[in-house]
Amino acid sequence: MINTEIIRKDFPMLDNKKMAGKPLVYLDNSATTFKPNRVIDAINDFYHNYTSNIHRGEYELSQKADNAYDSVRGIVGRLINCSEKEVIFTSGATNSLNIVAYSYGLQNLKEGDEILLTLAEHASNVLPWFDVAKRTGAVINYIPLDEEGRLTPEGLKSVISEKTKIVAFASVTNVLGFIADVKELCRIAHQYGAIAVVDGAQSTAHIKTDVKDWDCDFLAFSAHKMCGPSGVGVLYGKKEILDAMVPFTYGGGSNARFEADGTVILKDAPEKFESGTPDMEGVIGLGAAVKYISSVGLDNIYEHEKQLRDYVVRKIKELGNVEIYNEHGDTGIIALNVKDIFAQDAASYIGSQGIAVRSGNHCAKMLHNVIGVTETIRASFYFYNTYEDADRLVEALKNCTIENCIGIFF
Ligand code: ALA
Repeated sequence: MINTEIIRKDFPMLDNKKMAGKPLVYLDNSATTFKPNRVIDAINDFYHNYTSNIHRGEYELSQKADNAYDSVRGIVGRLINCSEKEVIFTSGATNSLNIVAYSYGLQNLKEGDEILLTLAEHASNVLPWFDVAKRTGAVINYIPLDEEGRLTPEGLKSVISEKTKIVAFASVTNVLGFIADVKELCRIAHQYGAIAVVDGAQSTAHIKTDVKDWDCDFLAFSAHKMCGPSGVGVLYGKKEILDAMVPFTYGGGSNARFEADGTVILKDAPEKFESGTPDMEGVIGLGAAVKYISSVGLDNIYEHEKQLRDYVVRKIKELGNVEIYNEHGDTGIIALNVKDIFAQDAASYIGSQGIAVRSGNHCAKMLHNVIGVTETIRASFYFYNTYEDADRLVEALKNCTIENCIGIFF
């Protein structure tokens, strides 16, 4: 059980903030989350007390930074159940997925090989594959989703073949918020000799992740969607796969030695994928964020979101002026439209009531093929949201008429 009264005190952004002159209700948590003091303090501590470069200094300050940075691999490893050697720090989920596409994909795909995606994927799990397919002659195909837009094992079974080399999908989709049966999808992919690439951007902060149990080959996620700083993320990869991969970025920190004749001896994974001075304070902030959400508890987070979503959906359905696209969604994400009002106009009105939601296509630009509309409003709840927040959203949706939307522009 989550006590939001206590939890909210940890977040400066939840301390009597206003938007458009009204008390702020933040329901854009799938875009980014607020940061607790512990994360802010951890980053400040680095700036105030031990700023230095890591892995390059023989002095005490630098060794303190080394220890702080390196310890986060174990913290992340405990969150997702993997070895610290399998945790690569990146600039975010997008960068993580690009590493998989360009390091693994370019090295392993050939003409005629198949990459399976879904129409519900976010751009970051589509565009790198489009480009790598063009470069290698591989083909992209799509796993059919069920009538609600869910990825199912049956859908995967209906299209996968020996030609399939990569199956890439979100563990939780960013618009409909459906949780995929990752373990079964990975099992099917492996049965056909394909690898499974999981975009965990919308899941790692909301549901328990166990990469060993899932048996996924790669998992990508960002810190900023899990109470951590932006500009930092993680790529998990199975050790034997990482060992066989070569990086697609080179520079200091990733090599043990290089010579004038072009000889390069790379370090082992994960360091070989982390060229250049990394986002040290970001990684340290990520460590504090993981500790924070672990102390809240992923089961508690999931339960809280689910209860809020069920409550809001029930209330919204009573209004009669709102269409919901994921009535049976599994997480705190609700995709909707106010009937006869363009999503961005409705979101502007909702914003004028002090409530932050996202509107548009949410970078899932192929999803209209599934839900029949290109633009939606997305309200995304997190563990610090309250029933009062939910009621404020419902009230704003009730009052979201064409007249009121026009009214905010004049
Ligand atoms: N990918 C983020 C979202 O879904 C930004 O909103």
